[in-house]
This record gives sequence, structure tokens and C-alpha cells, in this order.
Amino acid sequence: MSRIILSIAVCFVLGVPIGADFPGDPKPCKYGESDCIVKLVNELISSKASQGDRALNLVKLDPLPVAKMNIKQGADSPVNIDLTFTDNNVYGISTMKIRKVKGFGKSIDKKHELLLNAATLTLAGPYKITGKVLILPISGSGESNMTLVNCDMIVSFTGKPVEKDGETYMEATNLKLSTKPERLYYLFSNLFNGDKALGDNMNTFLNDNWEAIFLEVQQSMQTAFAEIFQAIITNVFSKYPYAKFFEE
Ligand SMILES: *[C@@H]1O[C@H](CO)[C@@H](O)[C@H](O)[C@H]1NC(C)=O
Repeated sequence: MSRIILSIAVCFVLGVPIGADFPGDPKPCKYGESDCIVKLVNELISSKASQGDRALNLVKLDPLPVAKMNIKQGADSPVNIDLTFTDNNVYGISTMKIRKVKGFGKSIDKKHELLLNAATLTLAGPYKITGKVLILPISGSGESNMTLVNCDMIVSFTGKPVEKDGETYMEATNLKLSTKPERLYYLFSNLFNGDKALGDNMNTFLNDNWEAIFLEVQQSMQTAFAEIFQAIITNVFSKYPYAKFFEE
């Protein structure tokens, strides 16, 4: 019933010796070697996020274009809105730091998990909204900016081994995302056909109630972003057989 949006992003890319051709030997990390993988992924995020890396099938992550996202919550939700973002960007993925990883061992067919923190993540671009937020009617279209500050995230997925030309690749399935921002700022320009007083009041109201509103829309946003991350991770691991990423 709900779909959609917001926050996060992640990237996950594993396996590349920085500054070397990939796949090379020796591989930078052993299977399941958490500290090494954390360091490697963090280096990749800071060095590759703003450009992507064709050698890794890694798309550009900062900004990450989001063509369309729709959050539609039913009348049973206190945040009963139909909100569409078109041609938005997510900014800030390059500020993400992985804190811990679990999984990435020899067996693909397991749960793999990344715990991370993003200093700030912003979804910005054109929006259109109608509905009600905690009993107040809301409507408008213009530019919006939703910024999450100091956001802890957990990304987990189940690896699925896929055979191709006698080699085994990993596909990410059932990816789940959970996000816990310290604070969230909303800014919707041009609400109520540009009525400034009404628009300013609504933005103040949204920010005063940021947490209650976030809790209502969180699930649909996480679901939408989970699809994006699952595609990014699967893409990276489709480039080489899983065994090429790690040392025994
Ligand atoms: C979004 O808003 C934040 C402040 O909440 C600001 O720092 C950032 O520059 C804005 N980003 C865009 C793309 O407008």
C-alpha cells in the first residue's frame, strides 16, 4: 500500500584493489574478514562515489539520480499523502562510513550485512504532494529538500548463487534497509500554490513533527531505496565470479 522514498543510499562495492586492475592477485581481503572489508569499502566510497567505476559496474553514487519515487499512504495512516518525486538526486552517499560488516564469507547463500553511518543525506528535486499530514491538509508542487543528519543504517541481504558459464556469481536478494536519523529537515517550496504564509507554516509544522512523520513514511521509503541498493550491489557482483573478490 505504500511505496517509497528517502534516504539512503548505499553503495556497496566490494573487492577492488585500489589503484590496481581488478580482479588482481592478491585480493585485498580474505573471505569474511570484517575489518579489512570495512576499510576497503570505505576507501571505495570516498574514492569512487562521485564518479562511479566502470571496471566495477559501479554507478555514480553521489549524487545518485532517482528518476521517480512515489509514496502513497492510505487513509489508515495519520500521514495520508500521495507524494511524488520526479528527477530527484540523493546527495551525500560519499559521506557514508561503514562501521561493520557481517557475512561475505565463502558461502554466498547467507545473510550479508553492512552497518553504516551517513553524516548527511539529502533527497532534493521536484515534488508534487496532496493529502493530509496529521490532520492538516497539504498540497503543492515545486522543489523539495529532505535532509537526514547523522543517520545510522543497516543494509542486509541474502546472497543467491547464480551459475554462469561454469562460474558462480552472487546476486543480492531480499535486501532490507533500516535507517535511524538523529534529525530530519523538510523543505517544500511553493506549497499551496505559492501562498507563502501557509507554506511557511506547513514547513514549520513538518519540522516540528519530523519524527512522527518520518516514522509513518519510513517503511515505504526504505522499501523504495532497498530496490535501488539491491540493484547496485547485484550489479557490482555480476562483474566477476564471487571467488574473484576474496582471498581464501
Ligand atoms: C538541502 O538542505 C540542506 C539544509 O537542510 C542544505 O544544507 C543543502 O545544501 C540542501 N541541498 C540542496 C541540494 O538543495
